[in-house]
Amino acid sequence: MEIRFDGKKALVTGGARGLGLAIAEMLAKNGADVTVADVQDEAGKAACEAICAAGGRASYVHTDVSDMAQVQQLYAAQERVDIAVHCVAIMMPDAWLEADPEKVQRLVNVNVMGTSNVVQETLRKMIPYKQGKFLILASIGGKLPDQTIPHYRMSKAAVLSMTMTAARTAAEHNINVNAICPGIIRTDMWEKQLLPDRAQRMDLEKEAAWDRIIGNIPMKRPQSPEDIANAAAFLCSDLAANITGQTLNVDGGSCMQL
Ligand SMILES: NC(=O)c1ccc[n+]([C@@H]2O[C@H](COP(=O)([O-])OP(=O)(O)OC[C@H]3O[C@@H](n4cnc5c(N)ncnc54)[C@H](O)[C@@H]3O)[C@@H](O)[C@H]2O)c1
Repeated sequence: MEIRFDGKKALVTGGARGLGLAIAEMLAKNGADVTVADVQDEAGKAACEAICAAGGRASYVHTDVSDMAQVQQLYAAQERVDIAVHCVAIMMPDAWLEADPEKVQRLVNVNVMGTSNVVQETLRKMIPYKQGKFLILASIGGKLPDQTIPHYRMSKAAVLSMTMTAARTAAEHNINVNAICPGIIRTDMWEKQLLPDRAQRMDLEKEAAWDRIIGNIPMKRPQSPEDIANAAAFLCSDLAANITGQTLNVDGGSCMQL
């Protein structure tokens, strides 16, 4: 079965790299006209140039999602948004007893307020058209009460709540709102922040720590950006027309552990 997005206008926040980039590439490859919004201008522009060089359509707009004025400007510049995928989040590895309140505030500004801003503007944009697919990248961290990365987990629990409440608001307008909860994908978030921190706490070399972390996943393998893009393709398509308010784990079974 082929999933196509011809004629669709898609917006991907956090699309300059990682999972957002994989989703932007998937949408463009299958016919969507994609706008990538991010704060990493060089990477965002390069990503869009690469998509266009491969025959797709993509353009870049600088947007810090924690700033509502910038989010409103982004949406005002879009003629229509048929598909919105919100992929922005920042990580904070600090334990409860180590956390600096200023860092916690920044995390809340980006992960919680940023998502709230994007939810509000996406619904405002989609409701008049009485159609839309809105997908949010949450995390299994928002569901699992492990003691690591507590502030990130609490922010992702808020993201899951926003997904479900936004779905209730959007349902009568024929708009689907769902979340994907990725498991462990070795993007910059893991490579540069989580893995060095975990390795240090486990008193292991980086690769040994990675092997132990992956060994704890029931399917004994990490997930890939393509795994997340594949799930996104389904949830952003009309195949998922009657699925809303759901949070899909793409985690190799990690959520079955408790
Ligand atoms: N990688 C994983 O294992 C994993 C697991 C669970 C959930 N997730 C979630 O998936 C999403 C993507 O993760 P990733 O691994 O690709 O992360 P990443 O750090 O590689 O990419 C995040 C993107 O968001 C952008 N960004 C950061 N702050 C921003 C802001 N204020 N405004 C606009 N853009 C901003 C970054 O520039 C970057 O392009 C995130 O929501 C993350 O929480 C990832």
